[in-house]
Amino acid sequence: MVDVILGLQWGDEGKGKIVDYFAPGYEMIARFQGGPNAGHTLYVDGKKIVLHQIPSGIFRENKINLIGSGVVLDAVILKKECESVAAFGVDYKKSLFISERTHLILPSHRALDRASETAKGHDKIGSTLKGISPAYMDKTGRNGLRVGDLLDDDFKSKYQSLRKKHQQILDNFSFDEDISQAENEFFEALEFLKSLKIVNGEYFINDAITSGKRILAEGAQGSMLDVDFGTFPFVTSSNTITAGVCSGLGISPQKIKEVIGITKAYCTRVGSGPFPTELHDEMGEMIRKNGNEFGSTTGRPRRCGWIDLVALNFACMINGVTQLVMTKADVLDNIDVLKVCNQYSINGKESMQVPFQMEGKDVKPLYKKFDGWKTDITGIKEYENIPSEMDTYINYINTTLKVPVKYISNGPGTDQLIVAS
Ligand code: GDP
Ligand code: IMO
Ligand code: MG
Repeated sequence: MVDVILGLQWGDEGKGKIVDYFAPGYEMIARFQGGPNAGHTLYVDGKKIVLHQIPSGIFRENKINLIGSGVVLDAVILKKECESVAAFGVDYKKSLFISERTHLILPSHRALDRASETAKGHDKIGSTLKGISPAYMDKTGRNGLRVGDLLDDDFKSKYQSLRKKHQQILDNFSFDEDISQAENEFFEALEFLKSLKIVNGEYFINDAITSGKRILAEGAQGSMLDVDFGTFPFVTSSNTITAGVCSGLGISPQKIKEVIGITKAYCTRVGSGPFPTELHDEMGEMIRKNGNEFGSTTGRPRRCGWIDLVALNFACMINGVTQLVMTKADVLDNIDVLKVCNQYSINGKESMQVPFQMEGKDVKPLYKKFDGWKTDITGIKEYENIPSEMDTYINYINTTLKVPVKYISNGPGTDQLIVAS
């Protein structure tokens, strides 16, 4: 069977840490979408590492880590990342597998991302500039190059023909950066990529399921960044939700069992787009500081705000979440009064629904207030030792979302996790 771990907000919920925590219970950890726009942080032997392309099970022994067909892959970033995990003693040649159907991010995709964002000016998406949107556009436009194409003799000519198309678009943007150095690095990295285990991913994973292996699917980004159901157009270009597991790995919905949704105890967003509970005051600043809320991929400050149960309820619905993990609870340790958004006021009317679009509407969060716990919770191991105010806060989330918070993360360390039931 396949269990899924994914983010329910706008990304950076702590997926890396939670996947690493759960990985020992599985034989395979598989990324199903996204690319190096992801930055998943985990701690190995007390040292911080941020993974962008490699699944977060890579540090656990005897695991298969699969980069699935729904991912877009930057070979240059992958090569560097393999070198960094090798420094921790990881034998990636043994434990890392890549699907033939995975689409490649080309240097010209990155250039197109930069050109497109620059042209958007004030309306920019706030993309990570990793070439994600152009690479997925080439996939749906049926132009993209896949990992399996690398093994064909005519790869170079296919590359040149796509590169030419990209140049025409870049010329339209009047974009004249020289990307020849990046192209050299790209071709060097492709040779490295060819030396890795490239597999027919769908047979690979379905055979594993048939033989009784337990699979953990690792999401990137978050549900509110989903291309279909997020705050469009301020979203990423893939399906970040449970449905993306099926299309990104080639498995049937019947194979999916637990859907573990991660939410922070508050909320953050990086990049542009609506964020109803965003705090523009000292409280927002304090959460950013206490939570060290700076992007793992880009270093940009993350926008911070209160937890939003309207958006979370929507995310639980579209994902079929069966259990919740609440991360970064310790970041709220010294706040007097906590607020939880349980309704929106949209143009003066109360609503429990995420609207089709928030721009141009007056969307205000309505809050219920809770006493803060004002206790250092970072050393707590058992649920029975959590402060009563925290128990009240969590129970309110359980009842409103009708999905149980089963784990509470109380610090960045892998062992800082409280099991609620
Ligand atoms: P991901 O993209 O969902 O994997 O999340 P990121 O790694 O981008 O961001 C989460 C950040 O919060 C990382 O710096 C983690 O080390 C850190 N983190 C994860 N869980 C906790 C927690 O419970 N408490 C605190 N204080 N930090 C956490
Ligand atoms: P992880 O997996 C947070 C955001 C970008 C931007 C929008 C589109 O670490 O949670 P893209 O580069 O995908 O075209 O950017 O999506 N974004 C993320 N925000 N965490 C991420 O990944 C993100 N990946 C993309 O900031 O607003
Ligand atoms: Mg991240």
